Amino acid sequence: ALLIIAMIIVAYLLGSISSAILVCRLKELPDPRSQGSKNPGATNVLRIGGVWAAALVFFFDMLKGALPAYGAYLLGIHGFWLGIIAISACIGHMFPVFFQFKGGKGVATALGAMAPISYMAVSLMGTWLVVVLVSRYSSMAAIITSLLAPFYTLWFDDRFILPVSMLSALIILRHKDNILRLLKGEEPKMFRKKKR
Ligand code: G3P
Repeated sequence: ALLIIAMIIVAYLLGSISSAILVCRLKELPDPRSQGSKNPGATNVLRIGGVWAAALVFFFDMLKGALPAYGAYLLGIHGFWLGIIAISACIGHMFPVFFQFKGGKGVATALGAMAPISYMAVSLMGTWLVVVLVSRYSSMAAIITSLLAPFYTLWFDDRFILPVSMLSALIILRHKDNILRLLKGEEPKMFRKKKR
């Protein structure tokens, strides 16, 4: 039990390291919490700093989910509690202790946390990518992927059904403003067509 508690804390602390804020500071870009959607995540860094900065943020936000999840798995933690450790990394990202508890929406971190746990991650990333390419809304991709995730879990590994459903609900709640903007048709699209 002690090991599980320790891993939950480690995951939360790792999750709390906001790649978006740090990458923007390093690259001398404006703070992602002050521009665009004001969300410290890869999507908003794409708006502010372009594709390489966004890729860095996406990579490190995934990594901070993947590391504690894989570590816990190697330490012999499986099933429900492994899922809770994955959620803890996402909670850290959403409510970071190092950044006044104002964090992101947990999409990249959740994808990273699922990757070492289950093959389900491949279908999650596939779904996310297809919806992004078709709709050009990052938020819509996150919402649809979150809605489908519990069903994927039933198919791949139903030991994770409870934590995955909890995580999906959390991610969707974090997209409250995006959902309102989508309904009003005010959500900004990704990769506007370049003028030739
Ligand atoms: O990963 C977050 C994404 O789904 C939405 O980001 O900046 O458009 O609110 P943003």
